Formats: sequence, C-alpha cells, structure tokens
Amino acid sequence: MHVDPDRVRRAFTPVARPELVRDLYSPDEVGRLFGVLRDHGPWSLIAAQTFASAEEFLAVAGGGGARGDVSLADLITPTFRGYFAQQAVCLYDEVQEVFYSTKLLERVKEMFGARYGLPAQFFFNLRAPARSLDAGHFDPQVWRGMDMVKVPVWFSTVMAKSGLFDRWEVRTGQVITYFYRSPEDGGFTYWPDGPAQPPARFPAPFWNDAVVVHNPRMYHRGEASGPVALRANPTGMSLETVIAADGEDWVLRNGDEVIARHDASAMRFLFHYGARVFDDLDEVRAYYDHTDDLTMDRALGLIVDDLRGHGLDLEVPDDPFDDPAFVRTLADAYAVSPTSYPAEAPVDAVPA
Ligand SMILES: [Fe+2]
Repeated sequence: MHVDPDRVRRAFTPVARPELVRDLYSPDEVGRLFGVLRDHGPWSLIAAQTFASAEEFLAVAGGGGARGDVSLADLITPTFRGYFAQQAVCLYDEVQEVFYSTKLLERVKEMFGARYGLPAQFFFNLRAPARSLDAGHFDPQVWRGMDMVKVPVWFSTVMAKSGLFDRWEVRTGQVITYFYRSPEDGGFTYWPDGPAQPPARFPAPFWNDAVVVHNPRMYHRGEASGPVALRANPTGMSLETVIAADGEDWVLRNGDEVIARHDASAMRFLFHYGARVFDDLDEVRAYYDHTDDLTMDRALGLIVDDLRGHGLDLEVPDDPFDDPAFVRTLADAYAVSPTSYPAEAPVDAVPA
C-alpha cells in the first residue's frame, strides 16, 4: 500500500517557506558557540547516537533505492553531533544567553504566528569532508506525551509519514545557522512544496547565515561538502570514531589513533536551534498537564488499524519496536521520499 498523495502533501508542507537571515549571531556569540565545539569534545557520529541497524537508518533516510545487504557502516558519513542544550536545559554556561535569547525564539514564533514559545533544543553538527547519502529527510516531530528521547527515531518517522497524529502535535520551528566558507557544494536542499514537487536550494558558501524553517514538516538535506578528493570515508571509520579539535585542525580518532586530520576550511558546521510554540494557554496547559497525551501503544494501535484498514495483513510481533522485519514493513507501507534533486546537488551512490 502507499499513503495517499493528499495526505503526504498535508504532512510535508511547512507553515512557511524558509527565511534566510544573514549574519545571525554576534561575533561574541560565534566565539562562545565554537568555543564549546573546541573545548568540550570529542563528539561522536550522529549515526552512532541515533541508529541501531540499517533498517532503522533506511526508515528515516531511505528513499534513494539503497536496500538489500547494506550495513550501517556503508551508509554513514563523517558527520558528528553534540548538544549545547537538551530538553530546554542549557548544558554550557557560556552559551546560556544564546540559547534563551529572544532573538532566536521570536524568529520561530513569528514563523508560526504563535503567541507563546519555549526554547527546546540546541545542537551542532561537525562535518568532515563527506559525500551526501541523505536522500532527504525531515526532523523528528513532537507529540504530547512522546518525544525523541523515548520514541525510536524510525517509529517517530513512520508516525509523521502516516499523518495520523496531528491532534497531538507540539509544533516546533528551527533556526539553523551554517558555517562553510567553500563554494564547493555544501548547500541546503529543501522541498518547500512537498516531496513530490521540485526542491529549492540554499547554496554555499555561507558563514553565520541562518534559515528559519519548519523542518519536521519539510523534507530537506545537507549536501556533500569539503574537497571532493577527501570525501571518501577514512580507512577505519566506524561507529566508534569521534572528532575533536587539535589546534586549528579537526582530527578524527578511533581511541587514541588519528585516522584523518582536516584543516578547518574543509569542515562544514551548523548550529541547530529548535523551539516549541503554542497558540494559547489551553495548548500550553494540555502540554504541561498531560491531559491529552499520546502513548507508544496507542500510536502503534492507530498505525496498525490504519494499515489493516488499507487491506494490509499485518502481524504484530511481541517486540514491535525492536523487530527488524516489522520495522521494514511499516517503513515500506508509509514510504514517502523526494522524487527529484537539484542538478547541482545529486544524491551520491552508496559505496560498493
Ligand atoms: Fe534535518
């Protein structure tokens, strides 16, 4: 079965097109933010923090046709992540005023025309020269009673694609700021009119330039970046590989062994701020008082009912959230992905 196109368009049309904001942070703020990246590493791979299997990865980022005997090691790129703040709590005093700043929150509230807002999340990606195997994805949605800490990413993705959970949605908007001085690829591709329509692009170079976006409701992807000759994964890269600053350079390490060293100019960084918004106090109360929460079991039940209603003969295993075959069945049933890419920014093939 396939999700009907109207449902997909509704699920993946953002509240507004991305707004570009040049030179977002002050020099002092840029210094504090990069100070955290330099002083508090090392940082681990996004893939190591997020996915346990190739099925889980494909449920989120799949769509490029990569299936069959792929392992997670074939699908990862040297993209690392750390957190300035998690669950509305700032982790480093030196960036506290940035995380709780009015200037970031107001951008998100304005995008939604929302009365109230709450800074929720602030993380950063550090990307060594890399291909882009990402065929397009959307960021995790949040529903009352569930959030990305408790919900497996693959299941959250299936829920979002199903379009069944709008009633419980906690809307979030993002301010994503890019730092990549090279004009060699490295842009941001996005699908502002849904994944079935042509994409648009925010091209590099950029330094301290931000997009204000509704990324849980808009397909997007980071493009390949860094010098082309350096984009293959370094020999020995695994889910245990970490990155850290070393003087002006950035080094990839397995334990104490350095497996790659990059000049800062080859790196692409982004700072990803997210806030939750509410139209009125009733919505705020429902969120904090848990008067209308969703649960994992209820969500799974609604998904299973939906699929059975579409004629799918579905057996639910004893451990539905950890069963690779079940993961794949649900991901296939709600398969949605972009259908076209910018000529300047194709999806790279999974290495043989
Ligand atoms: Fe994203």
